[in-house]
Order: sequence, then structure tokens, then C-alpha cells
Amino acid sequence: MIISVKKPDLDKLLIRLYAHNNMPGRLNNKVCLITGGASGIGRAVTIRFLEEGGTVVVVDRNRAAIKETLEIARTVSTKVESIEADVSKLDQVENMIRSTVDKFGHLDVLVNGAGVLVLTQEAEHVEEREWDLIMNTNLKGLFFCCKYALPEMVRSGGGSIVNIASITGIQGYSRSLPYSVSKAGVIHLTFVLANQYTRRGVRVNAVAPGSIDTHQARGSSQSVGALDIVAQNHPMKRIGKASEMAEVILFLASEESSFISGETILADGGSWAGGGHV
Ligand code: NAI
Repeated sequence: MIISVKKPDLDKLLIRLYAHNNMPGRLNNKVCLITGGASGIGRAVTIRFLEEGGTVVVVDRNRAAIKETLEIARTVSTKVESIEADVSKLDQVENMIRSTVDKFGHLDVLVNGAGVLVLTQEAEHVEEREWDLIMNTNLKGLFFCCKYALPEMVRSGGGSIVNIASITGIQGYSRSLPYSVSKAGVIHLTFVLANQYTRRGVRVNAVAPGSIDTHQARGSSQSVGALDIVAQNHPMKRIGKASEMAEVILFLASEESSFISGETILADGGSWAGGGHV
């Protein structure tokens, strides 16, 4: 009997078989720290990295989400740990990097996924607490993570940092000025860090997702069905999946992108090319 298997399904099956048999994956022997790793895109990255043989440290401030993610992740691989930390707190970031390096001896990949989106009014009505929450998490916190990870990566001979920016950092987002400004900052930070650290062996890149179906996207929707409207107006007639972002992030984290640094990949299913979605 001949069984026909579609190519994408076959690829997925082979990856799982590799992981299962401990054969080399694209992140074999790599220690990967993923902030915001307990939910949405971060969780998808956690699972995908484990499938590729990586050792993953999930960092998040949400204890319940960490627990749930670890339960799922351990069905893929046991090489997963967690640290409960708030990336906007300098001492907590310093501790999370130090404890990771103390435990594993090196840090090879940092994915900066921790982020918050709060919808705001027009500029004159933006409150200081809204500005601070968004900036402290999305930009300052991300910078703290890079600040402490970079010297460790340089010390151990190199590494790869992948920052999660947003299409809003390119086209702006009138429903949250602070969010889009924070994400523009992430793109700029990525570029400057690449300038400073590529020569020292660390590649620094970013992905700028369009609308992706996660807790953040659903939580920020102003009304039930708002995401469906975004999907209807999208060139692909759908929004993106967290697993699709995980593939781009895996590419940037792995040796497959060995000659890429300082780049931001727009992963929006063609919405910016089609006139923008926000
Ligand atoms: P999510 O809400 O599902 O996941 C974000 C995670 O970050 C949560 O687990 C949360 O607990 C964690 N987090 C938030 N603040 C933190 C802090 N201070 N310290 C530690 N952890 C913290 O959201 P999603 O959609 O997976 O977002 C991941 C990244 O992708 C974010 O940076 C977001 O801005 C970005 N993004 C998301 C898009 C979307 O449409 N979902 C579009 C473009 C960018």
C-alpha cells in the first residue's frame, strides 16, 4: 500500500523524529533564553527550539503561563527550564543571565519576546503610566536583556540575538503611539547593536510581525470580531500564526542565517505591501 504524505507534513514528522532520537537539530548544544517564552509567539518559539535540539530557558513574569508552557514543552524535550522574572527590572535581568550561564556554562541565543500592548488615545491623552509600562517592558527591558547577554556571548565565542519588533515600528500605529514608538526603538536598537557586536561574533537581528493570533492580539482587540475584520482586510484573508513567527525566529537564531546581522525581517503576510493593516 502506498501512503501519500504532503511535503509540509513530512517535514514536521521528520523534525519530530530527529528530536525524538536526539539526532542533531539546528540548535543542538545551543543554550537559548526566550523572554516572554510562556505565551503566544514566545511559547511557539520554545516548542520549535526544543524540536531542533536546543536547551531552552523560558523567562516570563507570568507564573501560571510558565507552568502551562513547561507541561506542553516537556512532551517535546526535557531540556527546558524556566525563570520567573520581569525584564524591566535590571537586577532580575542580571540574575537571569548569570544563573543561566552558571548552570549551562554559556548562552548562545537570546530571543527578546517579552512585550505589552496597551491601546491609548491620541497623543494629548496618553498617560505617563501607559508610556512607562510600554517603554519599560518593550524597549528598556529588551535593552537590559541585551546588555547582560552580549558580554556572555562574546566571552563564549559568539551568539545570536533575535528581537521581536512589530510592523507598527515601521508604519506607526495610531491606536497605540507608545507601542509603535517602542517597536521603532527595537528596530533601531537592533541595528546599532549589530554595528557594535557583529565584529565581536554576535549577530543581532529582529523580526517585525504583522497581526498574529495570540493572547496579546486578542486582548488588544477593541471588540469581539475585530480580529476577523483585520483578517478579512488582509491580503492573505487571515492573520498570522505564532508558529509561523517561530520559523522566522529559528532561521535568525540558527546558522542558516550566518551572514545576516542588523536586519529586521518584516513577517506580515504582505499586509504592508498591500497598503498596511493598522
Ligand atoms: P503574549 O501576550 O501572548 O506574550 C507576551 C509574553 O510576555 C507574556 O507571556 C507576558 O507574560 C510576557 N511579559 C510581558 N511583560 C513582561 C515582563 N516585563 N517581563 C517578563 N515577561 C513579560 O503576546 P505575543 O503576541 O506572543 O507577543 C510576543 C511579542 O511579539 C511581543 O513583543 C509583542 O509586542 C510582539 N508582537 C506581537 C504581535 C501580535 O499580533 N500578536 C504583532 C507584532 C509584534
